[in-house]
Amino acid sequence: MNAKSLDQFVVVGRVDDIPSGTSRMVKVNGKSIALFNVSGKFFAINNICPHKGGPLVKGKLKGYVVGCPWHHLQFDVRSGFGTDGGGYCVASYDIQVNDDEIYVSSKCRDL
Ligand code: FES
Repeated sequence: MNAKSLDQFVVVGRVDDIPSGTSRMVKVNGKSIALFNVSGKFFAINNICPHKGGPLVKGKLKGYVVGCPWHHLQFDVRSGFGTDGGGYCVASYDIQVNDDEIYVSSKCRDL
C-alpha cells in the first residue's frame, strides 16, 4: 500500500487490540464507529443505531450480523444493511490493514 492510498484513512488501533469475535468503538473525524473482527477480517459501521441510537458496538455478533443491544434490529457488518426487514441501515467504512495497524476510511461507502 502506498502513502497516497492511505490519505483518507485514519489509524484506529492494532490488529492485536481486537481479537476475533470482538468489537471496539473508535472515533474517526469525530464520528463514533463500531469496528468488528469476524474471523480475522475487520469491518466498520456507524456505531449509532438508526432506530433510536443504540450503541451497535455493544451488540451481540453472530457471524457477520450484529444485533442492536436496545431493540435487537440486526445489521450486516460487511455492508451496514439491515438484515431483519426493519428497513434500517447504517453507513459502512472501508478498512485497510498495514503492518498490523488498522486503518478506517474517513468517508463512508455509498449505500
Ligand atoms: S435503538 Fe437499535 S434497535 Fe432500537
